[in-house]
Amino acid sequence: MTNKEIVDEIYRLKKEKNAVILAHNYELPEIQDIADFVGDSLGLSQQAAKVDADVIVFCGVHFMAETASIISPNKKVLIPDLNAGCSLADSMTADELRKWKSANPNAVVVSYVNTTAEVKAETDYCCTSSNAVKIVESIPQDKQILFGPDKFLGRYVKSMTGRDIKIWDGACHVHEKIGEIDFDKKMEEFPNSDFLVHPECGCSTSCMLKSEVFDCNIKIYSTEGMIEHVKNSDNNEFVIATEVGILHRLKKLRPDGKFVPMSENSVCEYMKMITLEKVLDALKYEQFVVKVPEELAKKARIPIERMLEII
Ligand code: 13P
Ligand code: SF4
Repeated sequence: MTNKEIVDEIYRLKKEKNAVILAHNYELPEIQDIADFVGDSLGLSQQAAKVDADVIVFCGVHFMAETASIISPNKKVLIPDLNAGCSLADSMTADELRKWKSANPNAVVVSYVNTTAEVKAETDYCCTSSNAVKIVESIPQDKQILFGPDKFLGRYVKSMTGRDIKIWDGACHVHEKIGEIDFDKKMEEFPNSDFLVHPECGCSTSCMLKSEVFDCNIKIYSTEGMIEHVKNSDNNEFVIATEVGILHRLKKLRPDGKFVPMSENSVCEYMKMITLEKVLDALKYEQFVVKVPEELAKKARIPIERMLEII
């Protein structure tokens, strides 16, 4: 089958089965182009909660499909490849979190959405990179906070809020490699660019300090924050420090813009597992179903709903 035939068949089956396709900003260009909605993890959770469809084909990674299943238990959630995992979500297990909680019994647990349903069930508040500061600020001042699993996002939130936060030692294998060396090199090469940096990056803490010390355009954003910045900026040159999949959407949005990846090697192999052929098979055979058992979903829903109420 040609790509065009695959895409036509996807559209036909989507209509027949009353399905929607949700895709993360890091997905392959051809997947973003057939999606009904492309966004960051917060936007995708919000869509999953309100979308009017019987089937959600989730083009992203496993924890995102799980989140959709938790908030929309009556919809059939499909992920086109079950191996699309996340190194960050794997960096904290529910057992590890339970032990951490019992060593800090009065603390409030804030977990990034990049976690398994089991970890969410042990969590008080979920957050994403676009709302982590706001979520922490909503918690009473006198409370100590356990923040996990991403240490770079944790450090960012701690310095933005000045709160008493213990941070889990987890990271994303793609973003942690984006460090200060890449950053300083690009600053010299592109002095007039806006620098848009995801808080999961290894350089995010030093970037924050630099943005305070120098008069330069460094902004720390979730993927959707980057999209909004580029949409509204008068500049037309941007250095992008996150997974390179987002460049497709940025270039579509601002064909006049110059977009330079901080590192061309920032590729999440899990996001790239989703292909057109697998999306077609997902719709054809209604595979692979991601269903969080209701007992677990009931507990995991609480921190997600708290988050969605705050933002
Ligand atoms: P966003 O919430 O910014 O989309 O980030 C999700 C993610 O997996 C980052 O690696
Ligand atoms: Fe997980 Fe990192 Fe891939 Fe995002 S880029 S899905 S955090 S492994």
